[in-house]
Amino acid sequence: MAEKTLVCRADEVATGAPRIVKIRGLAVGLFRIGNNIHAMLNVCPHRGAPLCEGPQCGTTTSNDTGEILHHRDNEIVRCAWHGWEFDIVTGKSLVDPKVSARIFPVTVDAGNVYVHA
Ligand code: FES
Repeated sequence: MAEKTLVCRADEVATGAPRIVKIRGLAVGLFRIGNNIHAMLNVCPHRGAPLCEGPQCGTTTSNDTGEILHHRDNEIVRCAWHGWEFDIVTGKSLVDPKVSARIFPVTVDAGNVYVHA
């Protein structure tokens, strides 16, 4: 069963600057997207890189005319080793949704961030 662990203050997690915390030996990355904070295991499901140290960013897609569009700013983490991109909220790989990074529920109470891991 998941344990609720106080990890930091909410104002210590900034957009674009993931914060890595330790929870009983697990390295967990905290990300801010707008007013919400999300937690993800700092291990890439591809080859085990410290995923949450990669940039918090958006991604690109192309439209019908082949124009490249940048979108989803700050909703994605890109692994620094081979560039795989993951949705920070769901943990799913953008290329293959069957592949997921491990995510954890987060609650914020009175400005304190708790991860349920
Ligand atoms: S280890 Fe993360 S993309 Fe390869």
